[in-house]
Amino acid sequence: MKMEGVLKLYFGESNIPTPEYIKRAALKALNDGYTFYTENAGLPGLRQDLASYYLRIQGVELDPQSEIVVTGSGVQALNVAIRCVLNPGDEALVLTPSWPNHAANVRMDNATPVDIPLLLRGDRYAIDFDALEAAMTPRTRLLLYTSPSNPLGWAATDEEQERLLGFARRHDLWLLADEVYDRLYYRGLRLGDPAPSILRKADRDDAVIVAQSFSKTYCMTGWRVGWLIGRRDMAEKATELNEFIISHAPSFIQRAAQTALGEGEAELGKMLVRLKENRDFCLAALRRMPGVTVPSPDGAFYLFPRIEGLRDSFAFCRKLLEESRVGLAPGAAFGAGGEGSVRICYAAERKILEQAMERIERFLEKSWMANAQT
Ligand SMILES: Cc1ncc(COP(=O)(O)O)c(C=O)c1O
Repeated sequence: MKMEGVLKLYFGESNIPTPEYIKRAALKALNDGYTFYTENAGLPGLRQDLASYYLRIQGVELDPQSEIVVTGSGVQALNVAIRCVLNPGDEALVLTPSWPNHAANVRMDNATPVDIPLLLRGDRYAIDFDALEAAMTPRTRLLLYTSPSNPLGWAATDEEQERLLGFARRHDLWLLADEVYDRLYYRGLRLGDPAPSILRKADRDDAVIVAQSFSKTYCMTGWRVGWLIGRRDMAEKATELNEFIISHAPSFIQRAAQTALGEGEAELGKMLVRLKENRDFCLAALRRMPGVTVPSPDGAFYLFPRIEGLRDSFAFCRKLLEESRVGLAPGAAFGAGGEGSVRICYAAERKILEQAMERIERFLEKSWMANAQT
């Protein structure tokens, strides 16, 4: 962290500051007196706005009273949801490579995460349904996946969503979808269309939970506000548990979140144009490099190139950092299936990305030449 001149592409957040209209809304909320406690499930107005937002963006009808819980971030949404559905000794299937906090949250409940790696077929990742079946035990309670994915950029296809839901129904599992990157999606008819939520396919009575956040869509990582959607019994339990964890997200921040939902589309549209340009630039640059395969990314702001012959991604990232001053995240950090790859966050300035791609290319060429000579 102290090293000078490092091009930092290991972060999981955008370089864009929170837009002014959201900051103004927070200041106004403070001046309007939003300095007291709110309901544990969140301000009724914010829950209502979330319900309207889902109808508008995903075409999904939700009951704001009983199916939506505002949380103090996406992490907290995951934490409380997982606590609601796992008992000590239970097992949770986690589609990996995935953000390490998923497995960590399972372990925090004295339960066991079981990694099920996605398989790279051609230039797309795909869910290994045979491995899911084979991993089932009498203790399995939960199946957790992320779409669009951190670190892969992969998003579940329509058919994969159907099959995940069918699998969860058949085995009586909770299905927890981390959809915090749903608005950072490039495969819709129009840029700005969301990655379709699993909620489009689920019935009200399905054991389905969606963890969500304002962090990525609205550049609000430091604000700590998110939400959960789930079946009534889970939402009720999460609301009860929240009393003892965080009680509720800060009141004035919930008001600012309402403004983000209502007025955020224009800024989001601009950000998506920039992200897509960055993505295309990095994708083309990486695909020209020797020994590098980059799976096609559907969403989020990450690329997960696989590097031929790479056996220790931590050592690779350390060497790249020391010799070339480029900071990437080692694939091994993301669970089974991650080794052999590195994660690049392209939500950065174009200048930085250009320099980083050049340095990575030179680094790889040098290592390839060294390998060829030995
Ligand atoms: C897949 C995924 N889920 C959830 C989160 C949590 O976001 P936050 O706690 O900032 O809302 C992150 C953040 O990096 C993430 O990558």
